[in-house]
Amino acid sequence: MSKRAKVTIVGAGMTGGAMAQVLAEKNICDVVLKDEPDIVETMHHGKALDSSQSAAWAGFESQIIPTDGWEETAGSEVVVFTAGAPRTPGQSREELLNTNAGIMRNMVGPAAKQSPDAVLIIFANPMDVMCHVALETSKFPGERVIGQGGMLDSSRYRTFVSREIGVSIRDVHGYVLGGHTDTTMVPVVSNTMVGGMPLTSLLAQDKIDALVARTMKGGAEVLGLMKKGSAFQAPAVATMEMVEAIILDQGRLFPCSNYLQGEYGIQDVFCGTIAKLGAGGVQQRFEVPLTDDEQEKVKGAADVTKELVGLLE
Ligand code: LAC
Repeated sequence: MSKRAKVTIVGAGMTGGAMAQVLAEKNICDVVLKDEPDIVETMHHGKALDSSQSAAWAGFESQIIPTDGWEETAGSEVVVFTAGAPRTPGQSREELLNTNAGIMRNMVGPAAKQSPDAVLIIFANPMDVMCHVALETSKFPGERVIGQGGMLDSSRYRTFVSREIGVSIRDVHGYVLGGHTDTTMVPVVSNTMVGGMPLTSLLAQDKIDALVARTMKGGAEVLGLMKKGSAFQAPAVATMEMVEAIILDQGRLFPCSNYLQGEYGIQDVFCGTIAKLGAGGVQQRFEVPLTDDEQEKVKGAADVTKELVGLLE
C-alpha cells in the first residue's frame, strides 16, 4: 500500500463501483472496495480490476484494492457506506428501514474498529435514519458522521433549474435541505440564485413549483426509468465531491445531512444543512436563512426522521 490517503467504499454494487471509478480519477487517495463474498462473490474484485485498468488512459496512480475482509480498510480517512438494498420501483426509501439498518450495523461496527479516526459518509437509505444507525454503532462524534442526500438532491435541483432557464448549471446556486425522502426534501427556493439573480425573479411560480416537485421525486424518476436499480452516477459524483473536500481539507460548503445541534430549532437529529467539510469531517455548520414555510418544512423533515428512528428494531 502506498503512502496516499486511504478511502474505503463499503458495498460494490452499482453505486459503490461508480464511486470507486470517480474517486480514483481524482487521483487523491487509494480506494479500498469492500464487499461480502457471500453476497457478491467476486464482483468487487472484478470491478476493482476493471477500474484499475482504466488508469493508463484516465491518468491516475490511485490504487483500487478489493477486499472481502476488514483488515485492508484499516486507517481509512473516510469510509463511505453504500451497502444495502436499493429501492425497487414503487418502493419508498423508508420501506428499506430495518433491512438496511441491520446491514449498516454489521458494516459500521468493524469499519469503525479498523478506522477509529475516520469520517463516515452514509449513502444507504433511508439515508437520514441510517446516519443515526451509524452514529450509534460507531459511537463517533456527530462531526464524523455525514449523510450525502443534500448533495445529490441539490445537483438534481440545479440540473432542472439550469435546463428550464437555459443557462450553465455552474451559474445556478441552489440547495436542497430537509430530509432525503420524496416528501421531506426542501429545495430552498427563496435562496436560489442564478448568476446573482434570485430564481423567483426569473421564473413564474408555477414553473418553479414544477421544478421543486420534480426534484423531490428525482430519485424515483430515475428508478422508474431504469427499473432494475436506483440512480448511481449522480450519487457517485456527488458523494465523491464530499470525500475530496475532506481528504484535501478544502473547507467546501456542502448541503448534506448533519447531526444538528439547535440549527433550525432541531436538536440531535440528522437533517440537511450547509456544512463546511474538511479534515475531520464537519468543521462548521451553517443555518441557511429560510422563509417561515421553508423553516416549517425543515422541522417537519427532522420530525419524520425522528419518528423513523423510533421504529428501528
Ligand atoms: C436516489 C437514491 C439513491 O435519490 O436515494 O437516487
